[in-house]
Amino acid sequence: MTDALAGKQLILGVTGSIAAYKAVYLLRELTRRRAEVAVCLTEHAHQFVGPLTFRTLSGRPVLTDLFDPQSDDAVEHVAIAERAHAIVVAPATANVIAKAAHGLADDFLSTLLLAARAPVLFVPAMDGAMWDHPAVQANVRTLRARGATVLEPDAGALASGLAGKGRLPEIEHIVEALVRLLSPVKDLAGERVLITAGPTREAIDPVRYISNRSSGKMGYALATAAFRRGAEVVLVSGPTAISPPPGAVFVPVQSAEEMREAVLQHLGTATIVIKAAAVADYRPKAPAPEKIKSRQERLVLELTPNPDILKQVAALRGSAFIVGFAAETRDVAERAVEKLHEKGIDLLVANDISRQDIGFDADENEVLLVDRWGGTEHLSRRPKSAIADAILDRVRVLRAQAQAPAPR
Ligand code: PMT
Repeated sequence: MTDALAGKQLILGVTGSIAAYKAVYLLRELTRRRAEVAVCLTEHAHQFVGPLTFRTLSGRPVLTDLFDPQSDDAVEHVAIAERAHAIVVAPATANVIAKAAHGLADDFLSTLLLAARAPVLFVPAMDGAMWDHPAVQANVRTLRARGATVLEPDAGALASGLAGKGRLPEIEHIVEALVRLLSPVKDLAGERVLITAGPTREAIDPVRYISNRSSGKMGYALATAAFRRGAEVVLVSGPTAISPPPGAVFVPVQSAEEMREAVLQHLGTATIVIKAAAVADYRPKAPAPEKIKSRQERLVLELTPNPDILKQVAALRGSAFIVGFAAETRDVAERAVEKLHEKGIDLLVANDISRQDIGFDADENEVLLVDRWGGTEHLSRRPKSAIADAILDRVRVLRAQAQAPAPR
């Protein structure tokens, strides 16, 4: 699959924050993904990282001072701005945010931001107290109201020695926000999608548990696809080895009971719910408070059923569209229809988990979609990212059909 950033003309604006060194890593990642990046350094950014580093990594001259008589850049800023598919300002100081909000143009970057018609992504990094200041917050609101994307800074240790919200977000989050910005399809804008993923772990004692082979890949692919298509995403996930997908509100859980609580907590605002998690159907009735001694002659575990989260969600859904998954080892089509009706949901995605090449822990999947209006669709084997997009396409079509006025 082609990378969404390949061949894209980007401008990376770097301003005077200690986080300027992280812009080097961002540039490296953008060029690794074959974006063509022109770097624009402000005068203050020079104090933190020299232009040679950016020039070497981007393979292009670095744009700096608008008024340098030796430079062709001064006449170039409109042309560069016109060519750009997107502008990323990372790190974005309180100063550049203020200049952009008020339309100041006193250096190359601020002039470029005024001249550009390309979408702009600001990635703030500053002291926590500065970020919280009403003036900065007002400027951020102004930029967002005009259509710019301003990421929230991360919380944690700051260069000032204090802790707070002001750190540059992780590089992969910045890149994912950029991919979303450049994504031509924003058909899920305004939707709030609640997704579950991964396995649950049911404690036997403090060190042992019952679980299953779910890797979380299917649910995480759905979260990434929904975010790219403009949705607000909450991902409730059991324990997995993969990093939380950038852009989603991530709610980690362990057991089915914790998953149920988290799902019900976020259900009220969701417009679409997708339950890709492999919830353990049973849990030990009385987990041992101490580690159970090994080498016992015989050990009997009494199991009790876990709550059926999907059924509860379907009963409390309001107007949300509910999608469930079914993990089957045979008679996939018949069981899918049975499960759809038993759970009382709108769409069921069935996969054959007896196969090694799809389903649990595989990078690809092949599924059968069965909906409550009697429709079915077979999605042939493909990457889980493509399956995720096709499921979201189906959800959109079914919702539009369900909402259309009945023919007279
Ligand atoms: O995570 P991966 O490695 O990428 O693998 C993906 C997957 C195989 C886990 C995924 O594609 C999948 O099939 N997920 C559903 C697995 C499952 O639990 O199926 P089920 O047939 O047992 O459950 C049916 C539905 O009820 C599911 O939506 C499940 O989330 C839900 N459920 C089940 C039991 C329970 N107590 N509460 C639930 O909500």
